[in-house]
Amino acid sequence: MRDLPRRSLLLAVAASLATPGRIVRAADVPRFGLGVASGTPTAQGVVLWTRLTGDELPAEVPVQWELAHDEAFTRIAARGTETARADEAHSVHAEPRGLEPARGYWYRFQALGQRSATGRTRTAPGPGDEVRRFTFATASCQRYEHGHYAAWRDVAGSPPDLVLFLGDYIYEYAANPRALRTTHGGRTEDLPAYRQRYADYKADPHLQAAHATAPWILIWDDHEAENDYAGLLGERRQPNFEAQRAAAYRAWWEHQPVPRAMKPVGPDARIHGSLDWGRLARIVTLDDRQYRDAQVCPRPGRPGGSAFPMLADCPQLLEPARTLLGREQEAWLAGQWSREHRWNLLAQQTLMARCSRTAPWVEGKRAGQYWTDGWDGYPGARERLLRGMIEARAAGPVVLGGDVHGNFVADLKVDYDDERGAVVASEFCGTSITSDGGPQRLVDELRPHNPHLHHARVDERGTTRFVLEPGRLQAELRVVEDPKRADSPVRSGGRYAVEQAKPGVQRA
Ligand SMILES: [Fe+2]
Repeated sequence: MRDLPRRSLLLAVAASLATPGRIVRAADVPRFGLGVASGTPTAQGVVLWTRLTGDELPAEVPVQWELAHDEAFTRIAARGTETARADEAHSVHAEPRGLEPARGYWYRFQALGQRSATGRTRTAPGPGDEVRRFTFATASCQRYEHGHYAAWRDVAGSPPDLVLFLGDYIYEYAANPRALRTTHGGRTEDLPAYRQRYADYKADPHLQAAHATAPWILIWDDHEAENDYAGLLGERRQPNFEAQRAAAYRAWWEHQPVPRAMKPVGPDARIHGSLDWGRLARIVTLDDRQYRDAQVCPRPGRPGGSAFPMLADCPQLLEPARTLLGREQEAWLAGQWSREHRWNLLAQQTLMARCSRTAPWVEGKRAGQYWTDGWDGYPGARERLLRGMIEARAAGPVVLGGDVHGNFVADLKVDYDDERGAVVASEFCGTSITSDGGPQRLVDELRPHNPHLHHARVDERGTTRFVLEPGRLQAELRVVEDPKRADSPVRSGGRYAVEQAKPGVQRA
């Protein structure tokens, strides 16, 4: 906003000749109040995002964008103009192409006499590139009322090459005026309400800083639409859920740095996909919500949603045909596993390792108590996924997740009942940015029943920071000391490592 006073004066004078008194005010209202973001990088391009803010925006606003090799914007790599339209919440999805692989760039926008903050982004390496080192962070579950975003401040302070956001970017619940900080409005069910909720979240300066510092890849989980929904079934089985999902998906697209091609059609949008980070890693992203079968055995008196039944009371859990990803996505995933890359990173929403609250085997019979919304609610589908991964001989498989509001580091097995059964993959299910976790005591009690868990802490908030090299993955749990404070220190909550040639997690 350096040369703005003179510039906006000129604009104001020009505008007042055409529409007296109107744009004069427009120049004073922040037009880039939700920051800037970039994402969905490829070797040739990246998506640049912003959304214009403030009242009295015309139905269509031309927005100039530029991408440069340097922070001073003296060496421009690409520039263009996009139209921000009222029917897309004045969002901008600019897609420069023909960029160089594995390069850092700076970008910014200009509209209505104002200039946005400058963002940093990065393209992916070329398909055949040998990459020696790739840094990324995973994050999920940033319930606004539950805390401040010190975790994002920490990410912005040492930017990774890529941020993987694994779901629950917003929460749909009605604003709580007694909370630490509060959003606007009731439970989000229509497009204006979802748009307002994203605007509330995206006003946060630390979240904006994290977006402006690295490209993101985002997938959604349930709360971007509604808690525990399954396919076209709302948790409350409300008759209008299809329209609600359409509004939720539309608002998600409007507010994230994802391509125009991802724009939903009605209640449908494809967000699963894959990205190769040179020859080092294939990153596969999944959608565990849109195509899933409904959770079995809901709580008594409730039409849907998740529960913690005993297996003995809910034998339906074991029905092998039930699916979390849907048949089509399952088949697609089976063809994504790579032998040509050193690592296969599976970026999905929730905990994959079995996590029984009680003994999983009693008097010679399968038993246990399981959460029905995660992979434990779809054990047949989990087994199909892992067997497909083994059959494809996927190299260096690592599963990344979120959703459970706790740090869970685990070894993945096809058969958890076979204590000597092979470890087939490693899992880092990261904790929430802010969303409260359950009681740690419950997790401590279930540890003996789940010896494949190396770390299980629901009393930690933060992100996970990874360094990936051809032979080794290192993970550091970044833990916020006090999520109620924006200036909270952030410390290491533990370091783990995986050797490329040997699935399974070690302490580092
Ligand atoms: Fe969550």
